[in-house]
Amino acid sequence: MKDAHNLYGIVMEILGIDVGGSGIKGAPVNVETAKLTADRHRIVTPEISTPDAISEVIVKLTQHFAWQGPIGCTFPAVVKQGIVKTAANIDKSWIGVNGEKLISSKTGCQTLLLNDADAAGFAEMEFGAGKGNNGIVIIHTFGTGIGSAIFVNGQLVPNTEFGRLEIRCKEAEQRASARNRTEEGLKWKTWTLRVNEFLAHMEALFWPDLFIIGGGVSRKHDKFLHLLKARADIVPAQLLNQAGIIGAAVAAGKKFGSDE
Ligand code: BGC
Repeated sequence: MKDAHNLYGIVMEILGIDVGGSGIKGAPVNVETAKLTADRHRIVTPEISTPDAISEVIVKLTQHFAWQGPIGCTFPAVVKQGIVKTAANIDKSWIGVNGEKLISSKTGCQTLLLNDADAAGFAEMEFGAGKGNNGIVIIHTFGTGIGSAIFVNGQLVPNTEFGRLEIRCKEAEQRASARNRTEEGLKWKTWTLRVNEFLAHMEALFWPDLFIIGGGVSRKHDKFLHLLKARADIVPAQLLNQAGIIGAAVAAGKKFGSDE
């Protein structure tokens, strides 16, 4: 393995892993430049996404990169002190599991586990669409669910679950996720009407200055961004499908960097 430290012994490279509803993706990231130092590797998320099944995939990713250094890993749920607290789009047996300990023990690598939208938010705020914005910035990721991260003066309030907001008697993520669009065969215009309703609720509560639209769907922003309406500015995420990997690595770099 390459030396993952800089001249001062601070960790420069971290394996970023993004656990999603359809794929588990990983790549080593230089946390100073936010660049991937090898091609991203993707393994399909096991249909039964239990702790054992997911951690086995993470072991395979570490083997793929012959990785022995620290890991930053996203998770599509509330994660507090390494412990998974919710499981909307992942096997329910995760609830109460210390995912950090599990992954560390299976891979032998020091691990930080964090909410997927929080990780994407970190990446966008440090290196992407939110860079330098000191106002109230809300990042939403549209994928299997709707993820959220809110930054005030660059500081994250972790584990917000704004996708749970109830709109027309349903959780927002049951109506306006990217999965809803594909599974219900919604036209972009119909889907964006639902997203606009969600953004309007968010605005009524938080009065953000900027919305960053992320998640897999952000790759196709030319199809729908012009249909989104809010008082705040709305911009697409810049790091696209690398935001989770980069954000997880950067967050782990901050946590583990100084004591390596
Ligand atoms: C989860 C969130 C997650 C989002 C995006 C939701 O179902 O509750 O924690 O950030 O999906 O994956």
